[in-house]
Amino acid sequence: MRAVVYKEPYRVAVENVPDPRIEHPNDVIVRITSTAICGSDLHMYEGRTAAQPGIVFGHENLGIVEEVGSAVVSIKRGDRVVMPFNVACGFCKNCLAGYTGFCTTVNPGFAGGAYGYVAMGPYTGGQAEYLRVPFADFNCLPLPPGREHEADFALLADIFPTGYHGCELADVRPGETVAVYGAGPVGLMAAYSALLRGASRVFSVDRVPERLDKARQIGAIPIDFDRGDPIEQIKDQTEGEGTDKGIDAVGYQAVTRGGEREEPAIVLNALVETVRPTGAIGIPGLYVPSDPGGVDEHARSGVLRVAVGKLFEKGLRLGTGQANVKRYNRQLRDLIIAGRAKPSFVVSHELPLEQAPQAYEKFDKRIEGYTKVILHP
Ligand SMILES: NC(=O)c1ccc[n+]([C@@H]2O[C@H](COP(=O)([O-])OP(=O)(O)OC[C@H]3O[C@@H](n4cnc5c(N)ncnc54)[C@H](O)[C@@H]3O)[C@@H](O)[C@H]2O)c1
Ligand SMILES: [Zn+2]
Ligand SMILES: [Zn+2]
Repeated sequence: MRAVVYKEPYRVAVENVPDPRIEHPNDVIVRITSTAICGSDLHMYEGRTAAQPGIVFGHENLGIVEEVGSAVVSIKRGDRVVMPFNVACGFCKNCLAGYTGFCTTVNPGFAGGAYGYVAMGPYTGGQAEYLRVPFADFNCLPLPPGREHEADFALLADIFPTGYHGCELADVRPGETVAVYGAGPVGLMAAYSALLRGASRVFSVDRVPERLDKARQIGAIPIDFDRGDPIEQIKDQTEGEGTDKGIDAVGYQAVTRGGEREEPAIVLNALVETVRPTGAIGIPGLYVPSDPGGVDEHARSGVLRVAVGKLFEKGLRLGTGQANVKRYNRQLRDLIIAGRAKPSFVVSHELPLEQAPQAYEKFDKRIEGYTKVILHP
């Protein structure tokens, strides 16, 4: 089958790789119809991880079940399904508690598994014609048949639940004000989810014009940090108080004004300043225990300079980690079906799989309005 294969930093290719097969009676094989490129893929694409050439990318996958293992009971051939990016078993201590992003069964020695991702287990990615899905009864979310809402549903694999998870971590409640740093796909989904949860005002901080435009479109207040200190801009609009809640949808590749240089703790520290005392901060943005491309010796070992004293003084709560997609995807699916949510506003490009190399390049440079790309194998 054809698949997106990592070759070397800043280069992927679409190549022939072996077809996946049923390896366990609980597996299904899905013929992929939509698979999205994620900001998390860029960490590998840029060569900043231990990802080795040859890995097939793709953890945001939707398709039609093609083949079913003998022990699968709830899914049949022909079903249309979307899979959480997390591979999870459904029966370990963490899965039972709803923390499916931290499954202890699927990736021994590490809490959590994912498709097509370095260190996340032996699960081949879905930017390909076919995908093997383990523990299929647990990992497949059934969708209505047909092609309706294809792009909306594809976002249920990761960024819609992940943005929602950011709100859950920050405990966003009706009437609250929320600052979301980052208006990439995850940040836009976090801002959108905060509005769905009834936030009164949501500030969306970024420097990419097309992304700030999308934030404005959904009713968030765009804050361009190239035009001045975002903390001041938000305080000016909240009577000096700051926001009730904050979300970091940027992660360790955060940059300074003008995109001049990377400063991995800049967003965490901005949130400590932006959120009012006793507020809470959700951190879906990714931080890593080691980063060969880090700006200094501390960043390279995943240690950042965060204003913990200020955090303590203000009594702020923090929540972080992989999104437990399974915890939210069913309800978010039903909001889409009911016409109450349309996350696909974030999708800027839908392209054939063969165009993955150009799509990666442009999405990585955040040019030509590349906000979220869905590939169709
Ligand atoms: N927790 C999870 O389960 C999970 C899931 C998916 C993605 N992620 C992570 O979420 C993060 C965002 O993902 P994405 O797909 O939106 O990526 P992205 O790289 O497209 O978006 C990041 C955005 O942050 C902006 N940014 C950079 N520095 C900033 C600053 N100082 N202030 C405000 N904005 C700034 C960039 O301009 C960009 O638009 C990544 O770290 C990704 O790995 C986490
Ligand atoms: Zn993703
Ligand atoms: Zn588990």
